[in-house]
Amino acid sequence: MPKREHWSNKFAFVMATGGAAIGLGSIWRFPYVCGENGGAAFLLAYLFCVIVIASPILIGEITLGKTARRGSGGAFRLMALSYKKFWNIVGIFAVILGFLIMTYYSIIAGWTLEYLYQSITGGLTSLDASQAEGFWQSFMLNEPRQIFWHLVFTLIVVAVIFTGLRAGIEKLSEILMPLLFLILIGLVIFALNLEADLSAAPRALTYLFTPDWSKFTSESFFMALGQATFSLSLAMGTMTAYGSYLDDDVNNVPMLGGIVIAMDTIVAILSALIIFPIIFTYGLNPEAGTGLIFVTLPALLAKIPAGLVIAPIFYALLFFAALASAISLLEPAVTHLVDEHHWQRQRAAVLVGITSILLGALWIITNSLESKSLFLNIDRFCSDILVPVSTLATTIYLGWFSSVLDNYKFGRLLVKYLCPIGIGWILIRGLL
Ligand code: PHE
Repeated sequence: MPKREHWSNKFAFVMATGGAAIGLGSIWRFPYVCGENGGAAFLLAYLFCVIVIASPILIGEITLGKTARRGSGGAFRLMALSYKKFWNIVGIFAVILGFLIMTYYSIIAGWTLEYLYQSITGGLTSLDASQAEGFWQSFMLNEPRQIFWHLVFTLIVVAVIFTGLRAGIEKLSEILMPLLFLILIGLVIFALNLEADLSAAPRALTYLFTPDWSKFTSESFFMALGQATFSLSLAMGTMTAYGSYLDDDVNNVPMLGGIVIAMDTIVAILSALIIFPIIFTYGLNPEAGTGLIFVTLPALLAKIPAGLVIAPIFYALLFFAALASAISLLEPAVTHLVDEHHWQRQRAAVLVGITSILLGALWIITNSLESKSLFLNIDRFCSDILVPVSTLATTIYLGWFSSVLDNYKFGRLLVKYLCPIGIGWILIRGLL
């Protein structure tokens, strides 16, 4: 059998895994969920969930892959202390879940491509608020166009995976991640210095860093936990697959995991530092929700001359972040087919890619059917039920049915007791 691929070095692993974590979840979703749940209070809850609940699971998953030298399905089976067949299914379930999420993640990523294209070719300039809304609405009804971008995006993802772990995923992440940080910092400086209203920046900072507990509910806590596990790409085969490509002599997984977590968290905070000052400058409500980036923001950017440059940069940022994450949503399936069924990486990439393109197209076609929207239903079904189920199963496995975390006593304790309670609670709420 050919030797298993592995990352060139720790830097490559950190960039690729950072790319997996940093995505639409951190840049698009975090700011609006934070805005809807009281700003600083939500940020604190988020930090708590990341550090206490998500990070031991992340370290556990990476260690699991590394120790077993297999992707999720095989690793769960090989490292299980008992019930190997059952845990094998749990591992495969995570891989399928990641794949399923990719089928609609790529649709949203396709929207960022449309906006990137429009902002470069001038289609977004001089839109007022209602025109921006109109533009969005008509794009949502334009199925062929959405399918086109979904197709383009997925093809790029497949091309990278096809090229290989080192030549594709690793090289791309090593370029994209530093670039992404540069863009983010540039945009934060821009947003904090908007001249239209100089009081906006301090207000945004206060909003983000001074907790107002009156807005914080138990619901906010669950949102924070869900956001933390999604943002760190847990329970979808991603961390296990990426960990499985670590070299044997790497012995500081908790530290590498810590760096990835820090990167992801910093990106989420920086994204909020871009969005909130803009919102406050133009007197909008931070609770603007999902439409923020595709409706509110284009209208705001159209008002300022710098918007001509800022808009394409911002959508390029979203695209880069989505790209590295999408790769990490499909790679576990490819890793699985290679590890367990001895397929060639290229063949696996093509098959998985085509299936994802077809399913995504189906979600787009049904999206305009309002009540029958498979797109919204699949999203809700995944995030409310399947993701918590997979995360809960992963935690129970790491805490009780495998010994991969034995050398990491504190993490093991959390994974055994606290994580299952927190995540089980989310699941029950999702089911009710
Ligand atoms: N963490 C990514 C984001 O924040 C999404 C993702 C989830 C990627 C799970 C891989 C696996 O957008």
